[in-house]
Amino acid sequence: MPTRNRTRASASPLFVPRKTDRRTARAARDQFAAARDQARHAARPQARRAESGVAPELRATYPVAGRPGPFSARGGRLKLPSHRMTTATASGAYPFLAEGGLGAQGIYIGRDVHAEAAFTYDPFALYGRLDGFTNPNILLAGIIGMGKSALAKSLAVRAVAFGYRIYVPCDPKGEWTVVAQELGGQTIALGPGLPGRLNPLDAPARPHGASEEDWANEVRKRRLLLLGSLAKTVLRRDLHPMEHTALDVALDQTVAHAAARGTPPLLGDVAHVLGSPERLDSALGEPSGRLGHAAEDLAHALRRLVHGDLAGMFDAPSTVAFDPSTPMLSIDLSRLGGAGDDTALVLAMTCASAWMESALADPTGGRRWVIYDEAWRVMRHVALLERMQSQWKLSRGLGIANLMVIHRLSDLLTAGDAGSRGRALAEGLLTDCSTRIIYRQEADQLGSAAALLGLTGVETRAVSALTKGRGLWKVAGRSFITQHLLHPRELELFDTDARMHA
Ligand SMILES: Nc1ncnc2c1ncn2[C@@H]1O[C@H](COP(=O)(O)OP(=O)(O)OP(=O)(O)O)[C@@H](O)[C@H]1O
Ligand SMILES: [Mg+2]
Repeated sequence: MPTRNRTRASASPLFVPRKTDRRTARAARDQFAAARDQARHAARPQARRAESGVAPELRATYPVAGRPGPFSARGGRLKLPSHRMTTATASGAYPFLAEGGLGAQGIYIGRDVHAEAAFTYDPFALYGRLDGFTNPNILLAGIIGMGKSALAKSLAVRAVAFGYRIYVPCDPKGEWTVVAQELGGQTIALGPGLPGRLNPLDAPARPHGASEEDWANEVRKRRLLLLGSLAKTVLRRDLHPMEHTALDVALDQTVAHAAARGTPPLLGDVAHVLGSPERLDSALGEPSGRLGHAAEDLAHALRRLVHGDLAGMFDAPSTVAFDPSTPMLSIDLSRLGGAGDDTALVLAMTCASAWMESALADPTGGRRWVIYDEAWRVMRHVALLERMQSQWKLSRGLGIANLMVIHRLSDLLTAGDAGSRGRALAEGLLTDCSTRIIYRQEADQLGSAAALLGLTGVETRAVSALTKGRGLWKVAGRSFITQHLLHPRELELFDTDARMHA
């Protein structure tokens, strides 16, 4: 048939003139085929070379042409039984498939693995724009060495370019110091034998618009809260009503004396008043000596900060002033808490964060990030959780995004038994985080993570298989698997594996 003949000869007439004999035509065709093969093979190694030069985490999951082999679902060979469902059910079964992304506004994080697109995030930009995004706080959980700190540091470094300031109130490993230095920020190292001193009773500068009286009341409230937290941490119990009164009286006496001397009030002075029953009783007009007696435990608790292992660090005038213009401030506590007892670390963190938080109380201070790295270490201390909770609640009003880094979701459960105040506080912190970033979890932790975060089966399986730097981002209920990408300079700066490689 004429049509059939024309089809068969389709390529050759282009290259072989019609009026040649069959041998020449065949030779020409062979030559063309050989040239085509050569060209095809010459192109291949080059493509492979380009691919192998790319860092593994930058490489696309699938080639540009899509998934290879029978999984490609091309060629009409994939046969599935037909199944009908509503789009609501379909989105539950394939939570990542329909995700449209968070938009291009914000800090560059890396690659959205499913969309093969850049992933950006900025809690301040998302607030009010994303349904259900009620606060700028972030929870970041993942097993050891998966890149949690690296992500927090990247967020910090990149946020500075947006004009945000970064505060790290507790750096138990001392790994933020290089980051602060690199950004031209400040680090205060505290520990036995170090010259740094922070006075947690420092009165912060009065914000614009606050009346003198209101601010004096606010400062007094903050100081009382701090003293209460310190006492509760050492005593490991709630305070009795008379102990609250004793703290109140001792603080007022100390502040009055300090004002008369023209010096800042110090923790040592408060401890001294608490240890003098007659001063407490006479201040309150309590003739029976009951208040002085009730304050005995308190006096001993505060003594730890004055004469114990933390002596000198928090009971002297501050050696540094809070500089609101510094791009980053971290408090290095790596010299504390090495002996397995976290109480010293928690006390130091309470003092350091009180000092920092009171300085952050200015709502005109711009947008700020407060990063609690290694927060799992302090989860068992209710007093600190209370402080964190109040910071969480204030986040919107002050323009502060809090980032809390823990290992497992069950770290939140270590805060206390079911129904206890500690547990309620820890769960409240989780509730008040509109963004949850889950890095890899151990198999035995998947159940509790899924239950606490309401993960779907697909998400739970995804979490168990995450690699370094890759996390499930739940942003106000929307899900993304994101590969955090580090600049070579960041990689060098954030390296915490150096000792392992050496
Ligand atoms: N996205 C990434 N790409 C490449 N390397 C990374 C990435 N994230 C982290 N790393 C490297 O992995 C190492 C461990 O990271 P990191 O210290 O952040 O882990 P971590 O989860 O904070 O661990 P820990 O729980 O012990 O604090 C670092 O040396 C870091 O440079
Ligand atoms: Mg870390």
